[in-house]
Amino acid sequence: MPTVLALETSCDESAAAIVHDRRVLAGAVASQVEEHARWGGVVPEIASRRHVEALPQLIEQVVASSGLSLSAVDAIAASVAPGLVGALLVGSVTGRTLARLHNKPFLGIHHLEGHLASVQLGEDLPPGPYLVLLVSGGHTELIRVDGPGAYQRLGRSHDDAAGEAFDKVARLLGLGYPGGPAIQAAAAAGDPGRFALPKGRVSRPGGGFHPYDFSFSGLKTAMLRQVQALKPEGSLPIADLAASFEQVVAEVLVERACRCATDHQLATLVLVGGVAANLRLRRHLEQTCASRALQLRVAPLAYCTDNAAMIGVAACQRLVRGQNSAIGLGVAPRLALEQADGLYATAPPF
Ligand code: KG4
Ligand code: ZN
Repeated sequence: MPTVLALETSCDESAAAIVHDRRVLAGAVASQVEEHARWGGVVPEIASRRHVEALPQLIEQVVASSGLSLSAVDAIAASVAPGLVGALLVGSVTGRTLARLHNKPFLGIHHLEGHLASVQLGEDLPPGPYLVLLVSGGHTELIRVDGPGAYQRLGRSHDDAAGEAFDKVARLLGLGYPGGPAIQAAAAAGDPGRFALPKGRVSRPGGGFHPYDFSFSGLKTAMLRQVQALKPEGSLPIADLAASFEQVVAEVLVERACRCATDHQLATLVLVGGVAANLRLRRHLEQTCASRALQLRVAPLAYCTDNAAMIGVAACQRLVRGQNSAIGLGVAPRLALEQADGLYATAPPF
């Protein structure tokens, strides 16, 4: 089984890890959250600069605490798509330079394939096919997985990603950035049934609704209306607003994911991505899967938000299949997960 040094710089977490198959020998994350919080969201230019500053120390740190030398790793990996272009470039250039200097193969990893692999840092996965509910700051997708590289998207958000909705609603409620953990904390003491909120169904051109797609823009507007209506009464019932919002997001995600799994006769559901850290969502999904005899696997809490260990696991799986990337591989701010195999083509696609 291979040992890989993995780098992650696609958004606002700089991370490095050394992974042996599915075991994390060392991992470190430097979050930029506090810096971006001043602006209410990620500022791409700041993100790139902070990655440049943080990455060398993180690499030094994981190499030292793994007890290995760089010459002992089998390959070097970095997320190369999708994400912020300047941010991705920092990890890509660093990874490719190290690979070149140490004469190791380089693997460019699709960031979402990393999230998919994060669940394997916990329990064993039953054999595929299975359905993944991937919920992060940039993506809300239902993906059928038949094996590494064999992905089919069955559902998606037509506007905001779930994490983006958490971030925007948190800003509206004055709860700061990132919104997910802030809303979760505020919601703990709230009544999740106090406000009736819309579930954002997506119309189909031929009539009816798409059963597995999502829309969070109407929910965002409904929250704004509630806030506007309640403001003249004095202080806002933040806990109840946060809990009602969190509840409806959890219900929508769970309902559509479970329906999709059942309709496609997929016996296992997998939950990954930053929003998978949400405790109400995890609890609701556990209960629903149990009542519908669906097996559930959830990424370990520590590996839901961006990290490099998940990139390392994905890289190990590519490596054992004999794959690696061209050293001249660039980065792609937008690349569908279904195109991840292209990252291992002899002639780089970008
Ligand atoms: O996967 P991730 O770290 O980055 C992307 O690839 O986008 O996800 C970040 C997102 C943010 O929108 C953040 O608000 C959300 O995950 N998030 C949460 C929680 N922790 C992080 N959302 C809900 N509840 C949480 N506990
Ligand atoms: Zn992510």
